[in-house]
Amino acid sequence: MKRLTLYLVTAVLGAAFSAASAGDVDALAKGCNDCHGPGGVSQSSDVPSLAGLPEFVHSDALYVYRDEERPCTESKYRHGDTTRPATSMCAVAAKLSDDDIDAIAAAYAALPYVKMTQEFDATLASAGKALHDEHCDQCHSDAGTNADDEAGMLGGQGMDYLRTSFKQFADDTRGQPKKMKEKFDMLSEADLEGLDLEALVHYYGSIQ
Ligand code: HEC
Ligand code: HEC
Repeated sequence: MKRLTLYLVTAVLGAAFSAASAGDVDALAKGCNDCHGPGGVSQSSDVPSLAGLPEFVHSDALYVYRDEERPCTESKYRHGDTTRPATSMCAVAAKLSDDDIDAIAAAYAALPYVKMTQEFDATLASAGKALHDEHCDQCHSDAGTNADDEAGMLGGQGMDYLRTSFKQFADDTRGQPKKMKEKFDMLSEADLEGLDLEALVHYYGSIQ
C-alpha cells in the first residue's frame, strides 16, 4: 500500500512539474539569458532583447527556428560560463517542446521591454524616421515599441541585430508578412549601397 501511495504522489508531482512548469521555465530562461542578457534584456548589439517581446511573435519565431526556416547565426555565450561551445537558435529551438515554447514566450512577454543605449548617426536617424513613418508605422507604431501591434520590437533593439534582420528580409532568407515584403522590395530596389536600410537601423537605434 505504501508503495502505491508513493507512486501516486510521484505521478501527481510529475504532472505538476511537466515540461512547462514554472521551475523548468526558469531553468530554460537562465540558458537563454546567458546570450539574451540578464532578465532577457540584451547587452549585445547582435542579440535581440526577449523581455517584453509579444508572446505570439516570440513563440512563432521559436517554431520557425525549430523548423530551420529562418537563418541561424552561430553565436557564442555572452554571460555565465562563456567557455561553452557556440550554438545557434536552430540548435536551441530543436531541444524545446511545444509546451516549452509556449511557456517561455508567455514568461518573457510578461516582462517590461527595455530599450538599449547605443550610438547612432543623427542625420541617418532622421532620414530613417521619414522612411519609418511612410512605410512601417502602420504596423509598427510608437517607433516599433508597441507590443500590442504583435509585430516584433524595433525601437531600441540592438542595431547589429536589426541590420542582420533587414538584410535577411531584403534578400528573402527570412520569411515576413506579404505586405511587409512589398515594402522591403521597394526599399531595397531604391536602395543605393544599403543606405535606406542603414537609415532605418540608425532610427531604431536612436529610440532609447
Ligand atoms: C548562444 C547564444 C544564444 C542562446 C543560448 C539563445 N539565443 Fe536566442 N538568439 C541568439 C542570437 C545571436 C539571435 C539573433 C540571430 C539569429 O537569428 O540567429 C537570437 C534570436 C532569438 C529570437 C528572435 C527574436 C525575434 O524577435 O525574432 C528569439 C525569439 C530567441 N532568440 C529566443 C531564445 C530563447 C527562448 C532561448 C532559450 C531557450 C534562446 N534564444 C537562447 C542567441 C542565443
Ligand atoms: C503590413 C504590416 C507590416 C508592415 C507594413 C511592416 N511590417 Fe515589419 N513586421 C510585421 C509583422 C506582423 C512582423 C512579425 C512577423 C513575424 O513574427 O514573423 C514584423 C516583423 C518585423 C521585424 C522583425 C522584428 C524582430 O523581432 O526580429 C522587423 C525588423 C520589421 N518587421 C521591420 C519593418 C520595417 C523596417 C518596415 C518598413 C519598411 C516594416 N517592418 C513594415 C508587419 C509589418
